[in-house]
Formats: sequence, C-alpha cells, structure tokens
Amino acid sequence: MTTSEAGAARRAVVTGASSGIGEAAVRALRASGWEVLGVARRADRLAALAAETGADVFAADLTRQADVDALAAHVAATGGVTSLVHVAGGARGTDRVEDGDPVDWAWMFEVNALSAQRLVKALLPQLRDAIRSEIARAGRGHADTLFVTSTAAQVAYPGGGGYNAAKAAEAMLVHALRQELNGEPIRVIEVAPGMVHTPEFTLNRVGDQSTADALYEGVDHPLVAEDVADVIAYALNAPGHVNLDLITMRPVAQSAQHLLHRGTLSPRD
Ligand SMILES: NC(=O)c1ccc[n+]([C@@H]2O[C@H](COP(=O)([O-])OP(=O)(O)OC[C@H]3O[C@@H](n4cnc5c(N)ncnc54)[C@H](OP(=O)(O)O)[C@@H]3O)[C@@H](O)[C@H]2O)c1
Repeated sequence: MTTSEAGAARRAVVTGASSGIGEAAVRALRASGWEVLGVARRADRLAALAAETGADVFAADLTRQADVDALAAHVAATGGVTSLVHVAGGARGTDRVEDGDPVDWAWMFEVNALSAQRLVKALLPQLRDAIRSEIARAGRGHADTLFVTSTAAQVAYPGGGGYNAAKAAEAMLVHALRQELNGEPIRVIEVAPGMVHTPEFTLNRVGDQSTADALYEGVDHPLVAEDVADVIAYALNAPGHVNLDLITMRPVAQSAQHLLHRGTLSPRD
C-alpha cells in the first residue's frame, strides 16, 4: 500500500475510469500501491476494472449534481479520500464557431469544466479531513487534486472552439484553485496532453471510426493512455511538498499544436 511520507494510506478518486487515460491511471495507481475509487457512468466497464485491479468503483454522471452528492457520500462512507484525480471529459464535434451546436458546447462545458467545480466543492472538505487525521497521527500531511486538461486549453485551432473554450475554462479553474488553497497542504496539479491515441476520445468527437482513425494515420507513436497515466502516478507519488503545477506532454511527432509530423521519425541526412 502506498503511504505518504507521514505513513498514511493514500486513496484516490479517479474519474474517467471506464476508458482511456482514466482507466490507465487506475491501473498505474493500483500498481504503485494506492487505494483507488474509480468513477464513470458505465457500471459494467467499472466492474471489470474492479475485478482486474482490486479498485473500488462507483457509477456516476458528473454532469448531475445528485450523482456527485451521492459520490461524495459514498467516499465518506468508504474511507475518505486523499487525492482527487479528475480525468473525465471529452469533445463533441469539430465545427467552426459559426456552425457549432450550442448543445454540444454546453455538454463540453458541463463535462470538462463544471464537473471539475462540482467535484472540488463536494470533495474538498474530505480532502481537508484526511489531512487533519494525518497531522493528528503523524504531525504532517497533505492532499492532492490533479486535473487532466489538454494542450487544447493552451492553443486554439480551427474546429476546436467549443473544446478549446471548455478545456481553457477547466484550466483557469485549476489556476484559481491553486491560489485559493495557498497556505493549505493541498497540491493542485494540471496534466495537459497533446495527441493521445485512446479508443474512444476521437470516435466520440467525430462520430465514425474511419474519420477517427484518419486523425492518427501515419503518426509515428502518438501518446497512449499509459504514457499519461505514468505521468499522473509520478506527480502523485512525488514528495508531498513538490507541486508539479503544469505538465504539458505531447508525442515527439507533434512539436506544436499545429505541427504534426506524419511519417516515420528519422534523423536528417
Ligand atoms: N485523447 C486525447 O487525445 C486527449 C488529449 C488531451 C486531453 N484529453 C483529456 O483526457 C481526458 C480523458 O481522455 P480519454 O482520451 O481517456 O477519453 P475517453 O476514453 O473518451 O474517456 C473519457 C472518460 O470520461 C468519462 N465520462 C464522460 N462523460 C462523463 C460523465 N458525464 N460523467 C462521468 N464520466 C464521464 C467516460 O466514462 P463513461 O462514458 O463510462 O461515463 C470515460 O471514462 C479527457 O478529459 C480529455 O479531454 C484527451
């Protein structure tokens, strides 16, 4: 079991646990000794992950306040939380701003930004309780919040407007939160990946498999979910006084948001 420097068990609530980066983060944290509560909507996929990894799971739609309240009650009843790892999120559509459907934009704002706010509000009291117990027991303690935003939060691109706006909103929430918590032993970490080849993200965004596959075509090693999960585990396993504010990570083939090399990477002659 992973413990803090003060010797207390670490327990992470990991959202987005039914697929992609969140699922890989559950595996990575379990492999490094964490207790984990995995959260997503699809209970069947969560049950399979629980059977495989020994993680606890809880099915919730993070766009519904009642579900987030139920999650907080479940967390309190099952041992509390030292670390919130918010991975759930997504994109819908690649429309230009003038063509975008406000329903898609509202969904992206809900699932990426508002869910982060709901989770912070619901779980921060329990993160503080965990610190207090650790301090009472061992003289010191800390808690963590970690959010997976995106390079889409940093640089806009044509057809990205709704996702850019939603992820930038999430990132700004994270930046504000870090300052608001100044003076408390609570880390606020942002992981911002570029292109990650996960099975569902682009498929959900564009709606059909061949268009989704074309996005990654010829790219020499896009990031995979496990790459991001390793970084999440590294940031959380670092000593408690070390806050990795913002980790931007991309595949080598993607030197910038607009500069994606297709073809094998090789040294110039
Ligand atoms: N893939 C990329 O290229 C990439 C790059 C940068 C950043 N990101 C970010 O990384 C995160 C994970 O991406 P991914 O590639 O792993 O995507 P993914 O495979 O589509 O995973 C999204 C996760 O979010 C959960 N989720 C979606 N809506 C939810 C809701 N209303 N309530 C609760 N859970 C919900 C999904 O589970 P259920 O459907 O079971 O609810 C799923 O587990 C997202 O925040 C994404 O924006 C992805």
